[in-house]
Amino acid sequence: MPPAPSSAHEETTAPPRLRVLVLGGTTEASALCRMLGTTWPTCHAVLSLAGVTTQPHLPDMTTRIGGFGGVEGLVDWLHHNAINAVVDATHPFAAQMSHNAALACAVAKLPLLRLERPGWSATPQDQWLMVPSIVDAAHTLAHTSEWSRPHSVFLTTGRKETRPFLAAPQHQYLFRSIETPDTADLPPRTRVLRARGPFDLSAELQLMQAQKITVLVTKNSGGSATYPKLEAARMLGIPVIMIARPPPQNTPRAKDATVALTWLHQCASSTLRAV
Ligand SMILES: NC(=O)c1ccc[n+]([C@@H]2O[C@H](COP(=O)([O-])OP(=O)(O)OC[C@H]3O[C@@H](n4cnc5c(N)ncnc54)[C@H](OP(=O)(O)O)[C@@H]3O)[C@@H](O)[C@H]2O)c1
Repeated sequence: MPPAPSSAHEETTAPPRLRVLVLGGTTEASALCRMLGTTWPTCHAVLSLAGVTTQPHLPDMTTRIGGFGGVEGLVDWLHHNAINAVVDATHPFAAQMSHNAALACAVAKLPLLRLERPGWSATPQDQWLMVPSIVDAAHTLAHTSEWSRPHSVFLTTGRKETRPFLAAPQHQYLFRSIETPDTADLPPRTRVLRARGPFDLSAELQLMQAQKITVLVTKNSGGSATYPKLEAARMLGIPVIMIARPPPQNTPRAKDATVALTWLHQCASSTLRAV
């Protein structure tokens, strides 16, 4: 007996199945996971977090936490979980994980997409000094004649990245991060401010004025959640030492979760064709 027309219709229009690993720790990763959960019921996505934040905001989906154990560990994990595609949506400065993902996907012959928000660009009113790394930012504050007199530095680089600034102890620092840093890694005159974005412009203006900030040091993370500090610096005429992103991997790229979702649909179609 031929199949009923309704079931034939369901077979041709049912959303394709796919098993995806999303490497997260960013708002883009969470946005993609939310989209997958609401629009694609037959897509099984696993969100992976490094486990560096003690109280992460976890979406309602399958989540794994902690490192894989390098490239080899990731290849094994991909194999054991029958993953068809990987989206590397780690932070723009999480270079090690991106490197490992590129190598592991090459070994496992899996499609890999880099989901990365665009970086910030200076406006004509901004006073940005671009530097290639955190070490260079600290070196600038430690050894450049322009910075020889003590400054009030607003440091927003991440709690594991304060150590290089021990080389510039003549300044006082306001260090802001989600987690408390190790005090041994902080320059002597540092005030720690624990806070999680998003931040708004009026609060950033108030903070930078109250703390008499004379220079802002930040990574070019991009996104809107922490952009108001740059607007405040512009309005107050405060120079910014801007740390450039690490060099990108040679991987297809998406600038937001919607583009990544389209790419995953294309992966699902080609996976089906290959079966
Ligand atoms: N770097 C930043 O400025 C920044 C800012 C905000 C959020 N984050 C997020 O915080 C996490 C750690 O950043 P990082 O700069 O320390 O990374 P990283 O230096 O690139 O990675 C160091 C190691 O952490 C593990 N790892 C990193 N991301 C992981 C993930 N999503 N799932 C499982 N393991 C992961 C891997 O361990 P194994 O080798 O054992 O697999 C990796 O080799 C990332 O998920 C990133 O998205 C980073």
